[in-house]
Amino acid sequence: MSDLDRLGRPLRDLRISVTDRCNFRCTYCMPREVFGADFQFLPRAELLTFEEIARLARLFIDQGVEKIRLTGGEPLLRRDLERLIAALAPMPGLGDLTLTTNGSLLARKAGALADAGLRRITVSLDSLDDEVFGRLNDVDFPVSVVLDGIAAAERAGLAPVKINMVVRRGVNESSVLPMARHFRESGHILRFIEYMDVGHSNGWVLDDVVPAAEIVGMIDAEMPLEPVDPNYQGEVADRWRYRDGGGEIGLISSVTEPFCSTCTRARLTAEGELYTCLFGVSGHDLRAPLRAGATDEELAERIRAVWRVRADRYSELRSLATVRLPKVEMSHIGG
Ligand code: GTP
Ligand code: 5AD
Ligand code: SF4
Ligand code: SF4
Repeated sequence: MSDLDRLGRPLRDLRISVTDRCNFRCTYCMPREVFGADFQFLPRAELLTFEEIARLARLFIDQGVEKIRLTGGEPLLRRDLERLIAALAPMPGLGDLTLTTNGSLLARKAGALADAGLRRITVSLDSLDDEVFGRLNDVDFPVSVVLDGIAAAERAGLAPVKINMVVRRGVNESSVLPMARHFRESGHILRFIEYMDVGHSNGWVLDDVVPAAEIVGMIDAEMPLEPVDPNYQGEVADRWRYRDGGGEIGLISSVTEPFCSTCTRARLTAEGELYTCLFGVSGHDLRAPLRAGATDEELAERIRAVWRVRADRYSELRSLATVRLPKVEMSHIGG
């Protein structure tokens, strides 16, 4: 078991980024001006191999991690990802194994992912309107292909399928109600995420944020809602259900109601740096010792040492901040 960090929080979740690449250029995450044709993504040799990831994952599980989420960039771009899933799925102590994807390749891959042992999946989708969605993903990616991916995930038994929608004032605000209606009908859990100031590429300002309370108000006016208790302590999304039994939604209010005090998440980048906050300034290199032949005990001690001194609570401090600190990019750390 791991120690508690400086704010008394245990290590319970690990988010593993398996690639820094993505086939979308979402304006809030990988804007084209920054991630253009000459942007240098990580060369293959810099990425942790699946064997390296699996070894670290096992050590994290020994430290108390119960849940692993694979992220990117776009994780389904990593070749043979099923091999990694097959290595992680049977690990004793791992209670939950899931993945966050943009859904573009899901129709093709859902079956293989489920067969390899993936249990559930989260798909990002910011609008049902091709025009709005195209403006956001900036590669004109059609909504229908993502919806096909969601349907394929459902058929493959990756349940529950959750849908993540980042809401940005004046950009896809008008998609909130159509999205709520659609996913209420299809029975999927839609989660609305307040647009965050991750990284430096997205030019965030507070006015871009549509507060979770406002989103609840909009939906409640048409389809009455009531709050639901969290599934587990430290759950990121606040749950609400339709009063008529039509399913539930989630609100991730990381800007207006930060949840740092219960944050049990560590993040591992594709090249093996350990971050203890989504808004981390720098990571702790685990790849160098791994490749220099460190023993399991040495690696475990390194992880423990990082966690013991963790004091991150960026979202809570955001409102107090007077200077802008350098931060890691979302596509690098995996969201
Ligand atoms: P479940 O496992 O289904 O409860 O979902 P989750 O909340 O772990 O997963 P997901 O990756 O879908 O989280 C949704 C979004 O919430 C992320 O993409 C981020 O935008 C945001 N988020 C998740 N974790 C954190 C966090 O530790 N800090 C902040 N500020 N935002 C987070
Ligand atoms: N604010 C909130 N959520 C974001 N995501 C990416 N960038 C941001 C941001 N600036 C979300 C994506 C996806 C997950 C990986 O992170 O929409 O659901
Ligand atoms: Fe890709 Fe997801 Fe970032 Fe969009 S939000 S650019 S789909 S990693
Ligand atoms: Fe955790 Fe950092 Fe997010 Fe706070 S801002 S919830 S400490 S990842």
